[in-house]
Amino acid sequence: MHLKNTDNQTFSHYILGWYKANPRELPWRGISDPYKIWLSEIILQQTRVAQGLPYYYAFSEAYPSVRDLAEAPEEEVLRLWQGLGYYSRARNLHSCAKTIWFDLGGEFPKTYEKLLTLKGVGSYTAAAIASFAFGEKRAVVDGNVFRVLARYFGIETDIGSGKGKREFEELANTLIPEEEPGEYNQAIMDFGARLCVPVNPDCSSCPLQGTCFAYNKDLVKALPVKINKVKVKERSFHYYVIRCGQKWVWRKRSGGDIWEGLFDFPHTETSGGNSEMELPFEKTALKTFPKNYRHLLSHQRLNAVFSEMEIPEENLGKLENWCENKGYMLLEEEKIEYLAKPKLIVNFLNDQGF
Ligand code: ADE
Repeated sequence: MHLKNTDNQTFSHYILGWYKANPRELPWRGISDPYKIWLSEIILQQTRVAQGLPYYYAFSEAYPSVRDLAEAPEEEVLRLWQGLGYYSRARNLHSCAKTIWFDLGGEFPKTYEKLLTLKGVGSYTAAAIASFAFGEKRAVVDGNVFRVLARYFGIETDIGSGKGKREFEELANTLIPEEEPGEYNQAIMDFGARLCVPVNPDCSSCPLQGTCFAYNKDLVKALPVKINKVKVKERSFHYYVIRCGQKWVWRKRSGGDIWEGLFDFPHTETSGGNSEMELPFEKTALKTFPKNYRHLLSHQRLNAVFSEMEIPEENLGKLENWCENKGYMLLEEEKIEYLAKPKLIVNFLNDQGF
C-alpha cells in the first residue's frame, strides 16, 4: 500500500469536512431507528439513490415498523418491490423481519457481529446499521468506498477478490474516526457517489487532490482494478398467455431459479434444446407476438417471445383440470395488477395496454 504524504486522521477529516460542506437531505439520514436504516440499506444495495427513494417511501409508509413488515403477506411485499430487481433482497428482508419480530421479541440486534447473523445481512449492511444506528466504529465498504480508497491510496488489488475485500476492509477500519463513525461512513459513501465517481470524477474540486495517489500518477481511470469474472448466461423463453374469458393462466415461480415467488406465464425454455410446450388445446389457436423482449439480470441475459391462446368459454372445465395438473393458477384479469411480476412480464403487459 502506498500511503502518501498524509495520515489517516487527515484523510477522514477531509472526507467529513467535504460531507458537511456538501449536505444531501435523505430520509434515512440523521435517524437512529435500526429498522428504517436497515430498510434503506437493503433497498440501496445495487440501486441508485434516485431509484431507491420512492421504494423507501412506499415501504416505510406500508410498513412503519418491523412488526408491520413481519406480519405482511410475502406476495404483498414482493408486489411492492416490483421493478427494483434482485428479488432475493425482498424475500430476505421479509424473512428477517419475521425473525426479528417472532423469534427475537421485536428487538433489533445491536452489534455488528449479531447483525451479521441475520439473513441477507453481510458485512456492508451490518457495518452500516451498527454505525448509523448504534454508533459502532465499523467501516462500511461498498463500491464507492472501494473506489475512493483504491484511488487515494493507490491500491491495485482486484476489488472483486476475497483478498481485495479483506485488504480494503482492513484499511477502511483504520481510517474510521472514534468520533462520528456513522457520519464518516455516510460521508465516504457520498464522496464516492458524488465526487469521486467512476467516470470523469471532478478532481479539480476534490479537497484530497494534492495527496491522491491516482491523481498524481495519472491513474484515476485505471483504479480501482476489477477483474470481471461474472459469466453471463443466455436464456430464451417462449411464454404462453392462455386466456379463457376474463381468466388468465398464471404460474407462481418456485425456488431454484430466477424470480422465485413472482408470477409469470407457462413457458418453455428454448435455449436448452427442450422446447415443446404441451398445450391444453390445439396449437392452431395460437397467435405469436412479433416483438422480442430482452432483459438483463446480473448473471443472465434473457430473451423472450410471447404467444397467446384464447380458449372458448365452453372449455373452461377442461382448462381448469389442465391447470390443476400442471400446478398453474387461473386468475381473474382484474387480479393481474396486484400480482408481483418480473419486469419483463410487466413490459409485455404494458404493450398490451395493461
Ligand atoms: N447507498 C447505500 N447506502 C447509502 C446511504 N446510506 N446513503 C446514500 N447512499 C447509499
